[in-house]
Amino acid sequence: MKRIVIFASGSGSNAENLIKFFHNRENVSVIQVLTNNPHAKVLERAKKLKVSALSFNRMAFTTTDDVLNLLKASHPDLIILAGFLWKFPKKIIDEFPKKIINIHPALLPKYGGKGMYGIHVHNAVVAHKDTETGITIHYVNENYDEGAIIFQAKCSVSPSDSAEDVAAKIHELEMDHFPKVVDHLLINQISSS
Ligand code: GAR
Repeated sequence: MKRIVIFASGSGSNAENLIKFFHNRENVSVIQVLTNNPHAKVLERAKKLKVSALSFNRMAFTTTDDVLNLLKASHPDLIILAGFLWKFPKKIIDEFPKKIINIHPALLPKYGGKGMYGIHVHNAVVAHKDTETGITIHYVNENYDEGAIIFQAKCSVSPSDSAEDVAAKIHELEMDHFPKVVDHLLINQISSS
């Protein structure tokens, strides 16, 4: 059984999509959702889908080893950041090499880095009059949005698109591709282990 732990800070539509995608699979399971935001909608979504969900504070994440120890005890095969906004501490990255991935709503290296999340990214795409944007799924390293790229998918941006229009296109790409990319990564882990 491959075990997935998801980190999310907000709405959690990607977390929900991933949980549903793997729901009826015997060999893969989302075992836990973790959030830094006790009011995040992702907690409700996880509860409805009967997945264990917990919130933690910055102290538990960066100062003490509480989150690290929780993860160690969960034995995850993959840790997925799905709209998670805090920088991952080095001690957790070092403990799980090649096992932490993030989804970013732009074609990295464009529009990455601190403060570049959600609608801020789409605002930048519209402000720069870009004609295309997309999603990037990448490994997590110590710098925001800089780890090795695993997958990208593009969509077009028309001059009349608002940031909200772009967000809707990105949402569609994320819903379609993210679970499939995760599935492929886990299959490759099986064949290379
Ligand atoms: C997603 O679009 C994800 O790509 C983005 O936050 C959104 C979370 O939506 N992540 C970032 O911007 C990270 N820099 P969700 O909570 O509904 O899954």
